[in-house]
Amino acid sequence: NKQKTILDIAAMKQQREKISVLTAYDYPFAKLMDQAGIDMILVGDSVGSVVSGYDNTLPVTMEEMIYHTKAVARASEQALIIADMPFMSYQVSVAEARMNAGRLVKEAGAHAVKLEGGQPVAETIGAIVAIDIPVVAHIGLTPQSIHRMGGFKVQGRQEEQAKQILADAKAVEDAGAFAVVLEGIPRDLAKEVTESLSIPTIGIGAGADCDGQVLVIHDILGLCDKYSPKFVKRFADISGTVSQGISDYIDEVKSGDFPTIDHSFK
Ligand code: KIV
Ligand code: NA
Repeated sequence: NKQKTILDIAAMKQQREKISVLTAYDYPFAKLMDQAGIDMILVGDSVGSVVSGYDNTLPVTMEEMIYHTKAVARASEQALIIADMPFMSYQVSVAEARMNAGRLVKEAGAHAVKLEGGQPVAETIGAIVAIDIPVVAHIGLTPQSIHRMGGFKVQGRQEEQAKQILADAKAVEDAGAFAVVLEGIPRDLAKEVTESLSIPTIGIGAGADCDGQVLVIHDILGLCDKYSPKFVKRFADISGTVSQGISDYIDEVKSGDFPTIDHSFK
């Protein structure tokens, strides 16, 4: 399978082929999803919640994003790799945003970066695209805005908010984003946004009419029982398997059944 590019992703919308996206933060998961044929891998700042144990994504740093992106990039041969720009890596100035986007590509090996926001970050998106770094936008429920939103709440239910989300979608497309994540918005609004744009929409908690779907790998595998939002479907439940393996190991160490002669050197 050859390396996918933003041209392949654009063509998928035209051909009405749904785009599959999952998050990964390390080599083994990235390898498995790349080999399974996933279209894009997102090294999400959700790493802060599902791997690092933070309450939200705000504490995630550039150094952490670079570390995880490097591991994913080493594992992937065909998927297009998107790295999230963490909170405060693109908000202060366009120059800093460009520098940090550049680090995710140059040092870490991402093919594209993603940042949150609509109209207010359109200029930043344009500046990053202008140095030939493809950008994915992210609108609707933007987790880095948790303190403004007052929690993780569905966005765009009121008329005024829905209009703003449509305007945000248009703004990020005009700024040059090659795709946009729609998170936590009503499915009818997501459909309207999807039909109004020529770039693909990637939904999470945004219904079936988006051009693609993204979910957090730990959520679909049942590896994260902290919370389980309505939009998550569990495609496997590996927590039980992992716990069983760990318990069996502990038992065999305690009993002396492990290691045997087979696991030992002469
Ligand atoms: O960080 C992340 O995992 C994301 C997706 C859920 C869209 O931004
Ligand atoms: Na994210």
